[in-house]
Amino acid sequence: MDYLKIQGVDSLHGNIQISGAKNASLPLIAMAILANNEVKINNLPDVADIKTLLKLLSKMGSSCHFDTQETIINTTTMDKTKATYDIVKTMRASILVLGPILARFGHCEVSLPGGCAIGQRPIDLHLKALEQMGAKIDIKAGYIEATTPNGLVGCEIIFDKITVTGTANIVMAAALAKGQTTIINAAREPEVVQLCEVLSKSGVTIEGIGTAVLKIQGTDGELLNIEEFSIIPDRIEAGTYLCAGAITNSEITLTKVEPNHLGAVIAKLEEMGNSFSITEESITIHPTSQLKPVKIITQEYPAFPTDMQAQFMALATQADGVSIIEERLFENRFMHVSELQRMGADISLNGHTATVHGKTPLSGTDVMATDLRASSALVLAALIAKGETNIHRIYHLDRGYDNLEKKLEGVGAKVARLQE
Ligand code: UD1
Repeated sequence: MDYLKIQGVDSLHGNIQISGAKNASLPLIAMAILANNEVKINNLPDVADIKTLLKLLSKMGSSCHFDTQETIINTTTMDKTKATYDIVKTMRASILVLGPILARFGHCEVSLPGGCAIGQRPIDLHLKALEQMGAKIDIKAGYIEATTPNGLVGCEIIFDKITVTGTANIVMAAALAKGQTTIINAAREPEVVQLCEVLSKSGVTIEGIGTAVLKIQGTDGELLNIEEFSIIPDRIEAGTYLCAGAITNSEITLTKVEPNHLGAVIAKLEEMGNSFSITEESITIHPTSQLKPVKIITQEYPAFPTDMQAQFMALATQADGVSIIEERLFENRFMHVSELQRMGADISLNGHTATVHGKTPLSGTDVMATDLRASSALVLAALIAKGETNIHRIYHLDRGYDNLEKKLEGVGAKVARLQE
């Protein structure tokens, strides 16, 4: 198993090019199931989750050729409709194939994703919405068995909670359904927006893109002709590298980034004392003499993202004063706290709220990655820790960060990937 050895440094300097967004790529790959043509996707990130989803499509009879420049997916040969446990267990977002397979084939079996390190993460809202559209759903032996005896029919769906993959799943199902589907309380994340935009360009009429109410006019079973498109920049990868600049008190420029997607993250870094130079496609973070403490509440887009919570906790350990971080989306997303404490952080937990007392010196030691974003918090802490930090179980990091160690080495970090 690989691990990362990181040597603390005084500062970093240089440019980091941001990759395509993992969370935009996953629904857009699943969307290829709705196509009657070969789908060409540019700018997919080279991360494990993408390979996992492509493997799942291949297992179901599609052909997939991965290349970060141009990936080609042909699902016209797809002849299986079962997403098996061996793949779904490695990536919960495999649930994204449920809506499109059901819409195209009228039946499918998808393994239930099960629990997750950061919380229970149920998929009840996906299932309830599909049932409202006419699907018959049974749970048997760990699998969701879904059929559409009378096809999928558009209707009004009100999500009790805002769900990102739930919205994506229902948008894709609605694209081929009969009539209009209205989703109320839809997710407004940029990744959902891109899915809607690509579907719109492929002949599906969607009103309200980027708002909480989406109206999707289905094609009544007609498959789509999907034009080539390019994945939007990864706002969480970008946010993580901005935190790398902030924690090391360095000037770092991100290129191929979308600043408009990072409003809440940049606002919090500004509150902490950082300043920025921003162009259409680049962000430079400037160093600050002293980091100030911060109050963060994770919420749905456009508010502060839960996927940046762990990284800001690492950063808060270096702020002068008391930071308060409240996690509202996932009940168990504080697994990084005990690892940061082992490095010397002063953090106390009370339910969904973490209180971070800074500034504390951190020292390198052996730590364990527990989930994707928790892992990047440990990388940030290691960048400024005294001595060497060994981060184990980095398969979590590899799920979502494209070439992390090369990108960090490029700005002067001392990072090595080694084998246990
Ligand atoms: C997506 C992102 C993940 C991010 C999360 C929240 C992808 C592939 N993953 O995950 O990186 O952290 O959004 O921004 O895009 N919920 C239910 N029932 C459901 C569905 C969700 O109760 O059927 C709850 C969840 O437990 C959670 C909240 O709704 O508390 C939001 O979850 P959701 O937006 O669905 O997260 P994901 O789409 O799984």
